[in-house]
Amino acid sequence: DSPLRVHAEEQGFEIGAALAVNHLNNDSQYRAIAAREFNAATPENEMKWDTTEPSRGNFQFGPADQFMDFAQANDMTVRGHTLVWHSQLPPWVEDGNWTQSELRTVMYDHIDAVAGRYRGEIAYWDVANEIFLEDGSWRPSVFYNTLGSGFVADALRRTAQADPNAELWLNDYNIEGINAKSNAYYELAQDLLAQGVPLDGIGIQGHLINGQLPSGIQQNIQRFADLGLKVAITELDVRIQMPADQSELAQQARDYTTVMNACLAVDGCVAVTVWGVSDQYSWVPDVFQGYGAPLLYNSNYQAKPAYDAVHTALGGD
Ligand code: G3I
Repeated sequence: DSPLRVHAEEQGFEIGAALAVNHLNNDSQYRAIAAREFNAATPENEMKWDTTEPSRGNFQFGPADQFMDFAQANDMTVRGHTLVWHSQLPPWVEDGNWTQSELRTVMYDHIDAVAGRYRGEIAYWDVANEIFLEDGSWRPSVFYNTLGSGFVADALRRTAQADPNAELWLNDYNIEGINAKSNAYYELAQDLLAQGVPLDGIGIQGHLINGQLPSGIQQNIQRFADLGLKVAITELDVRIQMPADQSELAQQARDYTTVMNACLAVDGCVAVTVWGVSDQYSWVPDVFQGYGAPLLYNSNYQAKPAYDAVHTALGGD
């Protein structure tokens, strides 16, 4: 039967993957599956601050340009990731002893250069990433600590100037269901919209644990859509305690189905992006000891039950 992207395109939907230029260059199976199965892509690391501006004013676009070349050659919609984030931030930004006006200038210069370089080529920008903690309070970061919560509105407005055609999104994890953290986004989104700040969407990352999905995913997506915002699942993976047996892989397939169906059921939920192609290169085992196998393909590039689940949810046989 047809690849995922063919079914997605039939219903005007995007099925994406996070892609790493290193693997695109060195692994032909990875590259072939990426091109065949996905009509959207997010650079896994290539557009982050530590890569794009390792020292002040020294912009490095080699990896990001290679990512864009692959995405464009394969007709993929691109999600830019990410402009303002506390992580993968080079030490010169994080440890700078900034005044407000200095840091605002640093942030604006970064946005102007990175969003400006790909102006007109990026469908969605994750303008600010992971700005809240689990209890819904603001996450401490050099941006929040120096500039206060207004850095988010400032970053959105600046990105709108740098790339007027890009949609401007906020993105975070643990906001799949209705909880303190997703409530914080719901309130912030209402505030920003009321102030006329450009905000187009909320990215729900979807780093999930097998068999432990929160309830109310569809209801949560719906409430953001009801504000007039778009929503996407931007970094989906479902990690399994290793070794993964057949029943766990079957559970994982059911979890993928749940997330796909929650998004597909809501007008305004425009895309589901998985955070990698094969289990082999997933970030999960590096960060969550004893967990792995979170994606659609195993380390030998065999499609897993989770692949079939996504395929079926998109309308394939
Ligand atoms: O490139 C260097 C390499 O030169 C070095 O030898 C090696 C040694 O550790 O590190 C390599 O860099 C790693 C980089 O990935 C590229 O593989 C970093 O250590 C590692 O920290 C980095 O991890 C990335 C992580 O973000 C960093 O926060 C993951 O690939 C990436 O999947 C992950 O993605 C994030 C999203 O951006 C935001 N949401 C959560 C998600 C998962 O953490």
